[in-house]
Amino acid sequence: MADIFVKINGIRFKNPVLTAAGPNVRTAYMMIAAVKGGAGGIVSKTVSVKPASDSRPTIRKASCKGIMNCETWSEIPVEEFINECQKVRETGVPLIISIGYNPDEVKQLGVLIEKEVQPDAIEFSTHYVGRSVEPLLNVAKSLRQSVRLPIWMKVSPNFPDIEELAVKASQYVNGFVAINSFGPVLDFDVENVQPLLGSDYGQGWLSGPPILSIALRIVYQISSVQKKPVIGVGGIENGTDAIKFFMSGASLVQVCSTAIKKGHQTYGKIALEINDWLDAHEYSSIEEIRGLYRKKLKEQRMFSRQPVMTINKKRCTGCKVCIKRCIQGALYMNGKLAEVIQENCIGCGFCQDFCSYDAMELKDI
Ligand SMILES: Cc1cc2nc3c(=O)[nH]c(=O)nc-3n(C[C@H](O)[C@H](O)[C@H](O)COP(=O)(O)O)c2cc1C
Repeated sequence: MADIFVKINGIRFKNPVLTAAGPNVRTAYMMIAAVKGGAGGIVSKTVSVKPASDSRPTIRKASCKGIMNCETWSEIPVEEFINECQKVRETGVPLIISIGYNPDEVKQLGVLIEKEVQPDAIEFSTHYVGRSVEPLLNVAKSLRQSVRLPIWMKVSPNFPDIEELAVKASQYVNGFVAINSFGPVLDFDVENVQPLLGSDYGQGWLSGPPILSIALRIVYQISSVQKKPVIGVGGIENGTDAIKFFMSGASLVQVCSTAIKKGHQTYGKIALEINDWLDAHEYSSIEEIRGLYRKKLKEQRMFSRQPVMTINKKRCTGCKVCIKRCIQGALYMNGKLAEVIQENCIGCGFCQDFCSYDAMELKDI
């Protein structure tokens, strides 16, 4: 049986599935419920010096299978928030407190939280700090100079040069969390022509499955250019999603939207699925698969010229699914089996994803 504990920054997580800053870790009661639901670590809702005041509604279902929100940070005053976090400390599960936003604010909050709560680490959100490197580095530097605790920088997906930021910020931080929700985006109720959210024009931030591929790319980039651990977050619904993050270079994952939709048991369930996946594939730890995608990329087969699809006649069942998927008209039925018209095939590879019989392969011919 695989062991799914992870140790980073001197913190031992019994499993790699953490909560992500959001409404499901708003209070001590909810954070403790997440511990009971099997979370390997708790990241709190972001707190700032002034309580937030968000226009309702704040969390809605977007039509692209994601969640759209206009929540900013905690509406609980910081002193009260600290009391809540102290109660979570008693569970013994690693606790990371999320704070924001500018250099003075993170300094003030960092000092207070380190003294009053002594969490295992502090995560700081860069969501409202802009898209230039310097202001973000100033926040990281200010927090680094104020606390001794490990600090994690949470990056937003819109950031233009994530690699430059990761390289420069790695001198101040002990880890990166990628990514925050994506946006701004817009969706609305088409029947009543009404906004879904209470923000200015109904705009919000997108999370859940639609942002998973963006998050994977950013985790891959950050872990490729520097050595501090990366914590992956964005669209994780199950153990296989989490495995993709580890293979892209993440050491831990965080989950928000799936837990909003399915409850606090989500964390433990995903941790169990990670364990099952590792067992089924005969890996004994997360470390064994961390960054595997990058290693395997080096072995990836490159085609010498434009390849074409080929059909394995022993496997093809003549189901015609590939023919329906080919927009180039490069596939037809030759008797009972699919056949490729080589001159029409552009080697895009799309049809292959719909063959349930592993009967298609791109080849140089
Ligand atoms: C309703 C809601 C509120 C959120 N609030 C915060 C927050 O206070 N601070 C923060 O850093 N991220 C916040 N996030 C972003 C999540 O922590 C996470 O990065 C993002 O949703 C992607 O993960 P997911 O697809 O698992 O939800 C929030 C997300 C949602 C959906």
